[in-house]
Amino acid sequence: MCGIVGAVAQRNIVPVLVEGLRRLEYRGYDSCGVAVLGAEGPRRVRGTERVADLDAQTQEMHFEGVTGISHTRWATHGAPTIDNAHPIFSNNALAIVHNGIIENYESLRDALRAKGYQFASQTDTEVIAHLIHSLYRGDLFAAVQGAVRELHGAYAIAVIHKDQPHTVVGARAGSPLVVGYGKGENFLASDALAVAGNTDRFAYLEEGDVCEITLDGVRIADRDGHAAQRAVHAVQAYGGAVELGPYRHYMQKEIFEQPRAIGDTIPAADPFGADLFGANAREVFDGIDSLLILACGTSYYAGLTAKYWIESIAKIRTDVEIASEYRYRDSVPNPRSLVVTISQSGETADTIAALKHAQSLGMKHTLAVCNVATSAMVQLTELKFLTHAGREIGVASTKAFTTQLVALFILAVTLGKLRGHVSDAQEAEYQKLLRHLPAALNGVLALEPQIIAWADEFARKENALFLGRGLHYPIALEGALKLKEISYIHAEAYPAGELKHGPLALVTEAMPVVTVAPNDALLEKLKSNMQEVRARGGKLYVFADADSHIVSDDGIQVIRMPEHYGLLSPILHVVPLQLLAYHTACKRGTDVDKPRNLAKSVTVE
Ligand code: F6R
Repeated sequence: MCGIVGAVAQRNIVPVLVEGLRRLEYRGYDSCGVAVLGAEGPRRVRGTERVADLDAQTQEMHFEGVTGISHTRWATHGAPTIDNAHPIFSNNALAIVHNGIIENYESLRDALRAKGYQFASQTDTEVIAHLIHSLYRGDLFAAVQGAVRELHGAYAIAVIHKDQPHTVVGARAGSPLVVGYGKGENFLASDALAVAGNTDRFAYLEEGDVCEITLDGVRIADRDGHAAQRAVHAVQAYGGAVELGPYRHYMQKEIFEQPRAIGDTIPAADPFGADLFGANAREVFDGIDSLLILACGTSYYAGLTAKYWIESIAKIRTDVEIASEYRYRDSVPNPRSLVVTISQSGETADTIAALKHAQSLGMKHTLAVCNVATSAMVQLTELKFLTHAGREIGVASTKAFTTQLVALFILAVTLGKLRGHVSDAQEAEYQKLLRHLPAALNGVLALEPQIIAWADEFARKENALFLGRGLHYPIALEGALKLKEISYIHAEAYPAGELKHGPLALVTEAMPVVTVAPNDALLEKLKSNMQEVRARGGKLYVFADADSHIVSDDGIQVIRMPEHYGLLSPILHVVPLQLLAYHTACKRGTDVDKPRNLAKSVTVE
């Protein structure tokens, strides 16, 4: 979602501030802006176009400065207009950029209005700007400390003030902020990626921290106002990871990176050792009697797939809940349940809140399956398993999903082994399947030309149904989500047995029905469901595998997967669905990597 960059240097830092925004673009935004300190106070350039336009504007205007902040905004309070774009000013004295949501902004705004402050935007951010201004007595750091004490909600901010040249003050709670230590210059950013290359030394601020960067130093205070030190980590520049290479879009690149990402996620030595999840994992795993999986979106579908694996391999009861629902409903907590959160970013506000909610209900055994080692979620859980998808830039998740599946399969087998439900022979078989996955995926990726031919037909449709059964029902859900989010075609997924309980009414010649049909125990049932569609004139697009014995005919087209992959088949079957969504979106000319209204990291509720 929103992105923050701040810098203090002895050179013109506008190119750094704008380049930082360009690197954060993938997170999703609908306006952007940059402010620097001038002799008369802060000056800014804002726009509702792309960062490239902001860059062109700043160059044309010779907009320069040595102290500044910049921002990409994903609208929450107030439409994506220039007036609501950050940086937001207070009385032409200070400028602020903000990520997050201030929940008590209305009462603060009323109080500030009563003091004579006028509001030029509809943002909650302007409340923070005026609040800091009202508390400023010649010390920006102290004013920010005072202001954040009054804020309820989530924030990461960066602030500059006309009377404090060469100073940027930042603060965070609930939204990430890092300090970059340079030589004679220092940086702030919501993600180290933004300023990587200018420095490779970063400190991750903790909840409630306030910090000040100047030319030659960094000052940090914790939430109680005490001076604090935060460990400085060497973080490699990410430049290479964001190169597009020969691909048209990051999504395409990331789909094709899956064999590598999965290979990197499978541990080199024993892939089913409990200690992969943490030093005390064995003890925790021995003490649990159920699992509660919490996640959102694509990560939730990974959780749904895991339920099939864990209940069948490890024989442990597993519930899967959408994080945004779980956090607000009355549930019956089970202290012997292992709470598993799944997240690509590790910053998803609903998943973090659901995790904290479970912890507050006395569920102390927690595990994060996450792709970002430094994320808030990973800091919050007792156990962790890091996926190694590498940075995912396309908003639509692909390689993060398949690496999550790998992690969850490893969890299922590890638990099954500990409970004596996995024999040595089965373990060896699972290990073989895992090790061969990258090669099997390459075989699936080679189907791209056939899928492009289908995409031609899908690009002309406005609706699609996706069917799967058992383990492949969550894969149908994920296929439908991919298609709708990047091609804007309305798509729904059903477990195929549900068809006749309602959705069959939608089936006509105009309705493409994508069917995930591997040769598993439910294949014959699925074939009957497919006949129900054909009998109503529906057009079936079937992903079968080598042994499914389904052939192309009138009203049915088949793409055959190179091999049948048993329990790990969902990991292979999702890939052609990703490619179908991708190529359909390309043909419809949508902004594949940055679909409308969506953001990569959903750090607000
Ligand atoms: C869809 C997609 C989203 C995310 C969801 C959770 O392609 O990417 O549905 O899966 O926003 O995000 P994470 O996994 O970062 O918690």
